[in-house]
Amino acid sequence: MSESRKEKLEAIDVHVHFGGVKALNGVNLSLQSGDILGLIGPNGAGKTTMVNVLSGFQMPHPGTVKLNGENVSNLSARKMARAGIGRSFQSARLFPKLTVLENLVIPGLGIGLSRRAATSQARDILDWIGYREDPDRQCDSLPYSDERRISIARALALRPSFALLDEPASGMNEQECDRLMQIITRIPQEFGCGVVLIEHNMHVIMGVCHRIHVLDGGKSLAEGTPDEVKKDPKVLRAYLGEQASRPEAVI
Ligand SMILES: Nc1ncnc2c1ncn2[C@@H]1O[C@H](COP(=O)(O)OP(=O)(O)O)[C@@H](O)[C@H]1O
Ligand SMILES: [Mg+2]
Repeated sequence: MSESRKEKLEAIDVHVHFGGVKALNGVNLSLQSGDILGLIGPNGAGKTTMVNVLSGFQMPHPGTVKLNGENVSNLSARKMARAGIGRSFQSARLFPKLTVLENLVIPGLGIGLSRRAATSQARDILDWIGYREDPDRQCDSLPYSDERRISIARALALRPSFALLDEPASGMNEQECDRLMQIITRIPQEFGCGVVLIEHNMHVIMGVCHRIHVLDGGKSLAEGTPDEVKKDPKVLRAYLGEQASRPEAVI
């Protein structure tokens, strides 16, 4: 499934305002194939809005999104998916009345695979992600952690250049988080893509990300390696708030 070509996704001076709320206020970030970039910050920091911008669900005003140097700021979500941006949602948003397999076949068909190839790819990804249950199970009856994993699988079924994962570990227990970390760590190599990971679970973020970008109130607060971000006084103050006196308890 992997390929070696380096691709680049950039957000340049991105602003998104909802009425008076500055959800994003001049944010820059960039990543390449192979990168796992963490996007963290308190609730309301603008993380989901940034993923919406990077995946065509929200247009920046003003601001630019570039994919391999090309301005894609005005592409619809559907076109961004075709251009190679796969994403999972904070709430899993699977097709509830379709089966697990069907949910993964649809993106394969969307990128032009035959039904047979899309089905075979769907089975391979289920296998790769460690889903050993019934692929013909309807998605509205899935346990929560399976639903989260299938949501990631569905993003990967687009064979994306970049996979954007919005809080994939939410609601998972420790063992499920560890399994998820193994999966995310192997995504770039296996799928030849870059990953943007939004996550509140600091164990997951610190364990899998190469770099971490911190947002606060729609602005970039810091970016660096997990070690750099962990020690950054601005991050400790703003992101961890009153817990900053005991950072080891949180990060
Ligand atoms: N569609 C929307 N309409 C109005 N306000 C929004 C909308 N989406 C997000 N916001 C606001 O923008 C800010 C950033 O939200 P969001 O990107 O969801 O933050 P995060 O994912 O970091 O928790 C919040 O204040 C939120 O209430
Ligand atoms: Mg969010």
